[in-house]
Amino acid sequence: MATVAPTAPLDQVADFPAIPADWAYLDSAATAQKPAVVVDAITRAYAETYATVHRGVYARSADMTVAFEAGRARVARFIGAADADEIVFVRGATEAINLVAQSWGGAHLKAGDRILLSMLEHHSNIVPWQLLRDRTGIEIDVAPLTEDGRIDLDAVEAMLTPAHKLVALAHVSNVLGSVLDAGRAARLAHAVGAKLLLDGCQAVPRLPVDVQALDCDFYVFSGHKLYGPTGIGCLWARAEILDSMPPWQGGGSMIDRVSFERTTYAPPPARFEAGTPHIIGVLGLHAAMDYVDSIGLDAIHAHEAALVRLAREALGGMNSVRLFGPDDSAGIVSFAVQGVHPHDVGTILDENQVAIRAGHHCAQPLMEHLGVPATARASFGVYSSGKDVVALVRGLERVRKIFG
Ligand SMILES: Cc1ncc(COP(=O)(O)O)c(C=O)c1O
Repeated sequence: MATVAPTAPLDQVADFPAIPADWAYLDSAATAQKPAVVVDAITRAYAETYATVHRGVYARSADMTVAFEAGRARVARFIGAADADEIVFVRGATEAINLVAQSWGGAHLKAGDRILLSMLEHHSNIVPWQLLRDRTGIEIDVAPLTEDGRIDLDAVEAMLTPAHKLVALAHVSNVLGSVLDAGRAARLAHAVGAKLLLDGCQAVPRLPVDVQALDCDFYVFSGHKLYGPTGIGCLWARAEILDSMPPWQGGGSMIDRVSFERTTYAPPPARFEAGTPHIIGVLGLHAAMDYVDSIGLDAIHAHEAALVRLAREALGGMNSVRLFGPDDSAGIVSFAVQGVHPHDVGTILDENQVAIRAGHHCAQPLMEHLGVPATARASFGVYSSGKDVVALVRGLERVRKIFG
C-alpha cells in the first residue's frame, strides 16, 4: 500500500460540527463546511437580533442595518477594496458574472467587440458571455492551456488585440487548482485597453487576495466556498466602473425616485441590489471572514499546498491513476483511475467514508480538452488533514481491487 505521513500544518476540524471523526470530506471546492462560529452567528441573528435593513424606523432595524453594512466593509477589507461601496452583494459568483455581462457588457460592448476567456473556465464564466454574444454580436475567444494545466499567458498575449474589451479568467481553476498569474493577466489586458474580470471562487478560500494589488477591474466570489452561508456572494468593481453601469434588475431599494413617467436610480452598490437582500447571509459571511483571517490565508495556503503534495505523491505512485493539473495546485487534485468511471470511484470512496466530487465540474470544454468525460476531484479545506489523504489512498486501493 502507498504510504503517506498523516501530518499537515493546521488542525481545525474541531471547529466544524458537521464533520464526524470518521469522515474524510474532500469536496471543499464544491462547498466548504461551516465552522461553529458561522453557524452561531446565523442562529444568533435569526433568534435574537433579526429585522429588515435600510427601511426600518425602529431601533432593531437600524441596528441590523449597521450590522449589514459592517459586513460590506468587512468584505472590502478582506479583498483590499478601496471603499465598501465598491462591494455589491449578490447570490454568488454566477450571479455576479451575469450582472457584469448584462449590465456592463450590455452598456459597453457592441457587435464586433471581442472578449477573451480560457479553456478551463467554469460554465458560469462562459454561458453569461454567450447569452451576451447572442444579444449583441460580440465575439468570444478562448485561450489555450499549458501542458501542465495553466492558462497560457504567452498565448493570451499573442491573441489580444485592441478589439478585446474584456478578459475574464479564473483566478484558481476549480478542476486543476492551477493559479493564474493575475498580475501579468492584468498587464496584458490593460495593454490593449481591455478590462480584467477575475473569477475568484476558488481563490478567496485559498490565497490572500488584494484586488488593488492584482490590478483587476472586476472580482467575483461565492460565500459558501469561503466557509460562509450559501446564497450570498460578492461582486467587486472599481467605483468608476460601477458608476458607469446601468441597473440590471428593477425593484425596491435600488431606486432614487419612482413615478409612472420616469424612475431614477440609487448610486452603487444599492443600484445593483434590488429587493430585500440576504441579510443573514451577509452576517454569516462576515463571521466566516473573521474565522478565515483568525487562521490566516498564508497559513491556509501552506496547509493546502502540503496536502496537495501528499496527495499527488501518493496518487502518483499508483500506476493506474492519472493526475491532472500542476504540482503546485492550490488545494485541488483532479485524477482518473484507468478503466473506472469517476462516478464509480466516487461511489466506492463514499462506502469508505471519503467524499469526493466526480463529474465534469461545470467545465465541459475543459473535460473535452483533457479527453475525458469526467474526473474525480479531491479538494481540501482548513479542516483537511493527512488522515484524509490516507483514507483517500485506502479507498482507491479498494477501487483497484474491485475493478481488478
Ligand atoms: C471557479 C468557479 N467559478 C464559479 C463558480 C460558481 O459558483 P456558484 O455556483 O457559487 O455561483 C464555481 C463553483 O463551483 C467555481 O468553482
